Amino acid sequence: MSTAAEPTTGRDPASEPGGRHDEPMMAEQPRYLLDNRQVEAGRRFDTFADLFDPWTFRHLTAVGLGPGWQVWEVGAGGRSVPAWLAGQVGAEGRVLATDIDTRWVSGTPGVEVQQHDVGRDPPPDSPFDLVHARLLLVHVPHRDDALQQMAAAVKPGGWLIVEEADPALQPLACLDGEEPAQQLANRLKSGFRQLLAQRGVDLAYGRTLPRRLRELGLVEVAADAYFPITGPACDQLELATVEQIRDQLIATGIATGAELDGHLVTVAAGELDLATPPLISAWGRRPGGLIG
Ligand SMILES: C[S@@+](CC[C@H](N)C(=O)[O-])C[C@H]1O[C@@H](n2cnc3c(N)ncnc32)[C@H](O)[C@@H]1O
Repeated sequence: MSTAAEPTTGRDPASEPGGRHDEPMMAEQPRYLLDNRQVEAGRRFDTFADLFDPWTFRHLTAVGLGPGWQVWEVGAGGRSVPAWLAGQVGAEGRVLATDIDTRWVSGTPGVEVQQHDVGRDPPPDSPFDLVHARLLLVHVPHRDDALQQMAAAVKPGGWLIVEEADPALQPLACLDGEEPAQQLANRLKSGFRQLLAQRGVDLAYGRTLPRRLRELGLVEVAADAYFPITGPACDQLELATVEQIRDQLIATGIATGAELDGHLVTVAAGELDLATPPLISAWGRRPGGLIG
């Protein structure tokens, strides 16, 4: 296992002369549309934190997370969730943060960081009181194996919490879609979803989580959803995402450069109410045992 270099470039370095074509960590990975190698990935992680951390922390707290817990944060992305977890479990606990590309989470104080392709690489050694993932599995082609591995890593009495978007449940960028700028935003969102689907993203995965957790033998399964309608973090997420996939949106004919430029100006001016897809949080406990 290894950790990655710090991101220092804007566009995909592998497509640039002298780019990191030979980077061993990524060489065997299928290309992920929202590649962590781009600086916009870090901006997206910041906005995920702004949008979803309070919601996520509420769920993690509700299962009793506290000092001494052993936690596996899967597909960690950035630092905010692992850092908060480390503060909750304290010095006697353990937080393992894994990702196929660890550059944004490396160096988080109190957190063990490992490069790990969930469901493909062997699972981390010890069982955990809590395994958590957010906005991960829709992107993982072998997501059934990944979820199975995550459930199997929970010790008896421990919890699995999985939070995934369900864009098909609410596909619009602008719920209020009468004006041309709103309609453009919705067309761009639809194009973005097409690009995601072409990369194997399951756009209707979130709603299936409760059933999947039960099928894996977990008990006390429940779920809820969070659905931001508008706000500065929604705008920031849109700016970072559109800037990150700008080239693909143009190359696939989804939008022209001029349309994208106009859209970015409108978003930056705060003139659109931009929603996110629902984030579905599902949780379940492995039967037996007592933790805490
Ligand atoms: C949309 S980001 C979400 C990051 C973070 N969980 C959050 O909510 O802010 C998805 C993350 O999953 C990671 N990832 C994608 N496929 C993975 C895999 N097979 N195994 C582990 N991590 C993976 C990506 O590198 C990226 O950091």
